[in-house]
Amino acid sequence: MSAPLRLGIAGLGTVGIGVVKIIQNHADLLAARCGRAVTITAVCARDRHKNRDADLSDYAWEESAVDLARRDDVDVFVELIGGDEGIAKDATEAALDSGKDVVTANKAMLAVHGQALAERAEAQDRLIRFEAAVAGGIPVIKTMTESLAGNALTRVMGVMNGTCNYILTRMQSAGLPYETVFEEARQLGYLEADPTLDVGGIDASHKLAILAAIAFGTRVAFDAVEIEGIERVSIDDINRAADMGYRIKLLGVAQMTARGLEQRMSPCLVPCDSPLGQLEGGTNMVVIEGDAVGQIVLRGAGAGEGPTASAVLSDIVDIARGIRLPVFGQPAAALQTPHPARTAVPAAYYLRLELADKPGALAKVATVLGDAGISIDRMRQYGHAAGSAPVLIVTHKTTPEAIDHAIAALPRTGVITGDPVELRIEEV
Ligand code: HSE
Repeated sequence: MSAPLRLGIAGLGTVGIGVVKIIQNHADLLAARCGRAVTITAVCARDRHKNRDADLSDYAWEESAVDLARRDDVDVFVELIGGDEGIAKDATEAALDSGKDVVTANKAMLAVHGQALAERAEAQDRLIRFEAAVAGGIPVIKTMTESLAGNALTRVMGVMNGTCNYILTRMQSAGLPYETVFEEARQLGYLEADPTLDVGGIDASHKLAILAAIAFGTRVAFDAVEIEGIERVSIDDINRAADMGYRIKLLGVAQMTARGLEQRMSPCLVPCDSPLGQLEGGTNMVVIEGDAVGQIVLRGAGAGEGPTASAVLSDIVDIARGIRLPVFGQPAAALQTPHPARTAVPAAYYLRLELADKPGALAKVATVLGDAGISIDRMRQYGHAAGSAPVLIVTHKTTPEAIDHAIAALPRTGVITGDPVELRIEEV
């Protein structure tokens, strides 16, 4: 057998301890699969004295992640600290500069600094692997860089934040408003320390930007993602959308068009009976479309100790086996700078309006839509209460520009009370 692969693990939270446990519990299995032992040399975390659910007594303790990254007896630096700046990035750079490969779960760091880190790694013939950074236990990076390497990928989309999917599905099943379920999620410990990373769509957009780079051979362009979180999704819309045969999901979609790279993270409607529509709770789903393979759907746990540690181990095992690939699937220097484009691909839209109880009110709305070139597919009006009634409209496919135009014109009809709600219906 070859020499053991020696790891230095920085960050002993849920994922770090999950990785330690797998390496301890599956030592023989890993050695058999890798043709060499996988061992841990040293670890570090913020608080040495915290009670942890694993025996760390065989490992050297380092106070500094940077010192850990530079140790001569570490081959692979495993970065499980998190955060786009600061110690995680400093230690990753130190590891690369001292000849170590890096395995990380840090989507924020890769979304913001992925290109610079990839160039730094490849200039020194080093690897950065990050299966755990996107969709937890789902093997989406490996699927895209390896299994689908023979395809031109045309679209990548999915639900990539389990907390948002939990909130939206719990609102639906319990009939509870957003604020109540948000508070429940906080108490269950589902929310990131900064909850806007989850509910503001930022965490999911980090992941989408990474997938888009791999899919389209472009530099990661997180700043170009059009982001809208789930804060404005109301229980009314969840119920009304269900009446029309849809579920609301925080959906990320990336596709390359003639106008440029479209990357969008926003609440969208998907058909109830589609795989995405049936996705419950904290589960993630990634849908990938390629010219040869067609559409494939990957589903699984997007977070948590076991699933995320499983993804980290997939990278460690590849390195132990001697598998070496460019960071984003092709050499970083060859990645194109994408031309970002606002979403222009046509789609059907869901509109919810509060319509005054006046003769001709509906005709005025239809005229505004008609003038914007929007054709109505289906419509439903509910009973009047306090002089106005909710009206739901599902349009035929139209452009986001036409919808914006119509939404701006609707208040001028004088028959709309409250703000109209528009949500895109994504074709899946
Ligand atoms: N907060 C994230 C989620 C964890 O809910 O999916 C993994 O990024």
